[in-house]
Amino acid sequence: MPGEAVNKPSGSMQPVSVLFVCLGNICRSPMAEGVFQHIAKPKHAPHHPLINQIDSCGTGAYHIGDGPDSRTMSTLADNGIKSYKHRARKFSTTDFTTFDYIMAMDDDNADHLVRLRKRLLKQNNLEDHELGRVMLFGEFGGRKGEEIADPYYGARNGFEIAYEQVVRMTNGFLKTLEKEAAAADTAASGEKSGL
Ligand code: 4NP
Repeated sequence: MPGEAVNKPSGSMQPVSVLFVCLGNICRSPMAEGVFQHIAKPKHAPHHPLINQIDSCGTGAYHIGDGPDSRTMSTLADNGIKSYKHRARKFSTTDFTTFDYIMAMDDDNADHLVRLRKRLLKQNNLEDHELGRVMLFGEFGGRKGEEIADPYYGARNGFEIAYEQVVRMTNGFLKTLEKEAAAADTAASGEKSGL
């Protein structure tokens, strides 16, 4: 169940589903999705033990149905990621139950998602663990509170900066999951042996 998988008190960890969210879903979140897919589930090894579904979307509706920005695609291709495909979609409240981690690219989008989540919890009388958790993806990059700046109105270089950030954040997030899985395994074997 979303929100529960990582903090299960015992037993091996269930794979988690991850959603990347920016504003337009044509620049940053597809970049994060493409990189995360490539690192966690490369074509030759598509079954990562800790990762289930991966997707991206936007909090805005400006680009629904559009493909990623050509600069996102060329930056990915320059780094060997050539088969990524996506069509922009808008975030839906059902994403809170489909995904365990909802990774915002910046504070504005994180705040927006946190407000939606609070409203949904209240309206439906849900407990916190029943919905996926909203996080700033930058929390996993090793630099506290780091945002991925919107490169849409800037130069191509902004996409290269975003690429470096999402690679670092992806590796940090996967390391965190691996540590949590190891801790869950240790707890499970302790339980089995009666410790
Ligand atoms: P993204 O960038 O949120 O990284 O996809 C943007 C793309 C388009 C717009 C804003 C941000 N726009 O306003 O059209």
